[in-house]
Amino acid sequence: MKVTIVGAGAVGASCAEYVAIKDFASEVVLLDIKEGVAEGKAMDLMQTATLNSFDTKITGSTNDYSKTAGSDIAVITSGIPRKPGMTREELIGINAGIVKEVSSKLIEQSPDVILIVVSNPMDTMTYLVHKTTNLPKNRIIGMGGALDSARFKYRLSEALECPPSDVDGMVIGGHSDTGMVPLTRLATRNSVPVTAFLSEDRLNQVAEDTKVGGATLTKLLGTSAWYAPGAAVSGLVQAIACDQKKMFPCSALLEGEYGLNDLCIGVPAILGKNGLEEIVEIELDEAEKNKIKESAEGVKKTNGLLEV
Ligand code: NAI
Repeated sequence: MKVTIVGAGAVGASCAEYVAIKDFASEVVLLDIKEGVAEGKAMDLMQTATLNSFDTKITGSTNDYSKTAGSDIAVITSGIPRKPGMTREELIGINAGIVKEVSSKLIEQSPDVILIVVSNPMDTMTYLVHKTTNLPKNRIIGMGGALDSARFKYRLSEALECPPSDVDGMVIGGHSDTGMVPLTRLATRNSVPVTAFLSEDRLNQVAEDTKVGGATLTKLLGTSAWYAPGAAVSGLVQAIACDQKKMFPCSALLEGEYGLNDLCIGVPAILGKNGLEEIVEIELDEAEKNKIKESAEGVKKTNGLLEV
């Protein structure tokens, strides 16, 4: 199993580290446009192999795509991250060009590859890859909901004063401060609805804190986060590589599901060896349906800025 990660920056390197530590891939190739960075990070990570007991071989490459040939899965994290006060949508000008070029070079070397798009604005970048490549739709997946859901569960566990592993919950919708739809009604603590423990006001606060989870970290760090994003991407990579049939909210190209068409947005999906194997349509109440519709309008507005 060969995994390529384009963009050896904060998220790409963190993803490479989590993939290596989980030890399911034979090879990880890190590629970056900045001279020496991917090679340096690959070497640094390889020097953790005996410390962290993994056998995954990590190599680096400065923009030489021949090194990525035959990749089963490729993750696109190349591009600029946001600075404090910026929205993800503001990154579109620079990142669209990068994502378009990178995806086409990856496919040239690995025609059977499954692409995971991470660069922001992620739903629009995922849509761009669908529009500009001829890959079947199950082989282009956007990562955002897995991270947003992890942040939601963290905020829920904080409010419930319980261990994070006792909590389950999901965020669907667009991967943006206004587009996320944390499904508070369906969140549980050890199978018990969280509505049994938390007031409506407290749950609304949890939902709001979740939606600005990325912005909160960007303000603290001066740039966007990397540990949770890297871990979330590695979860998707593992589900595909190990044919786990695990469900994550992923940005998928919709053709009528949830009453939506011709956009990529976060919906629950089953991931396995064929990539995005199934979109799961869950029953939403009226308020949730309205929120998803509004979120889709926001994503479509950003898609409208693309020149494709
Ligand atoms: P970073 O600046 O640390 O790393 C980006 C890397 O991409 C840099 O090393 C840069 O040299 C490289 N790069 C730029 N153009 C390239 C090209 N044409 N080919 C190859 N490499 C190229 O940024 P960070 O923090 O890793 O974020 C990466 C992207 O991921 C950003 O767009 C950010 O907004 C997004 N992101 C998305 C998340 C999500 O949930 N979807 C979560 C966190 C970040």
